[in-house]
Amino acid sequence: MNIPPHPQGFLRIVTALLMAAGLAGAITPATAATPAERYTQFCAMCHLPGVHGAPKVGRHDDWLPRLKPGLNMVYRNAVEGMPNTAMLARGGADLSEAEVRAVVDFMLAASALPASALRNAARYDRFGLSDRDFIRRDTSRDGFLSRSEVSADPLLLKNFSRFDSNRDGRLSETEYRNAETALERERIAANVDDATLTAAVKQALAAVRGIDFEYVKFDVSGGELTVKGIVGHAEVAVRAQDALKRITGLKRISNNLVSGDQISWD
Ligand code: HEC
Repeated sequence: MNIPPHPQGFLRIVTALLMAAGLAGAITPATAATPAERYTQFCAMCHLPGVHGAPKVGRHDDWLPRLKPGLNMVYRNAVEGMPNTAMLARGGADLSEAEVRAVVDFMLAASALPASALRNAARYDRFGLSDRDFIRRDTSRDGFLSRSEVSADPLLLKNFSRFDSNRDGRLSETEYRNAETALERERIAANVDDATLTAAVKQALAAVRGIDFEYVKFDVSGGELTVKGIVGHAEVAVRAQDALKRITGLKRISNNLVSGDQISWD
C-alpha cells in the first residue's frame, strides 16, 4: 500500500478504518483527544489556578452560583465566551461546540457538584429561556421578572405595565424582549447633541460602583459612544452597560471595558 502524500489525510483514513472496525481506541491520534486531555491543553491554565476570576475546577463553591441560571447558560458561556472577561469563545481554542460542551461536563464532574444544584439547574433550563439579561435579572428563578427584579432599571420600571401585555403583574421573556426593543428604538430615535450626551454618560458612569475615571475613558461622537478601560470585575462592565443603554439619544454603545482580573495575566 502506498502512503498518500498528506500524512494528515493518511491518519484520517487509518482512523476511519479503525473506527469502522471498532478499534479506534487502539491508537490515539491527535483527533481522538478526550475531554480531560482537551481541558488540560486549553482550559487548565486558567481554570486550575483560578486566574482572571475563572472558576476553579475542583472547588464547587466557585461553580454553585454559576449553575443557578441553568446549565444551558454555562455551556453557552463556554461556547460563546463571556463579554468583558478573559473567557473567550470556546476558551480561545479551536474546538467544536460539542467538544466544548464535553469539556464543560468534565469540569463540572471534576468539581463534584451536589446533585441538588444540578437538579435545580436542570429545572431552570426547562423554562427554555435564552435572553442573557432576562436570565441575569430573574434572581428568583421563576422564569418571570417582577417589578422588584427590574427595580435597578428606573425606565423599565416606569414602563412596566405598558409592556406587561397580559396584565399578570410580571414580564415574560417575550414581554421583556418587546420592552427592550421598544425602549432601545425610543432611545435611538431621540436627537441629542454630543455635549449633552457626554455629560449624561459621565454622570451615568460616575454612578456605577467600581468605575474609576483614571482607568476608564470614553468618547461620544455623532451620538455614538465608545467606552474603554479597566474595571475590577466583569460585573462592573455589565452594570455600566445597563446604565448606558438608558441614555436617551445614544445611537450606539461600544463597551470595551475589560475586567482587572484579565490584566493580572501579564
Ligand atoms: C484565559 C483564561 C481562560 C481560559 C483559557 C479558559 N477560561 Fe473559562 N473562564 C475564564 C474566566 C475568567 C471565567 C469567568 C468569567 C467571569 O464570570 O467573570 C471563565 C468561566 C468559564 C465557565 C463558567 C461559565 C458560566 O456560566 O459562569 C466555563 C464553563 C468555562 N469558563 C469553560 C472553559 C472551557 C471549557 C475552557 C477551555 C476550552 C476555558 N473555559 C478556558 C477564563 C478562561
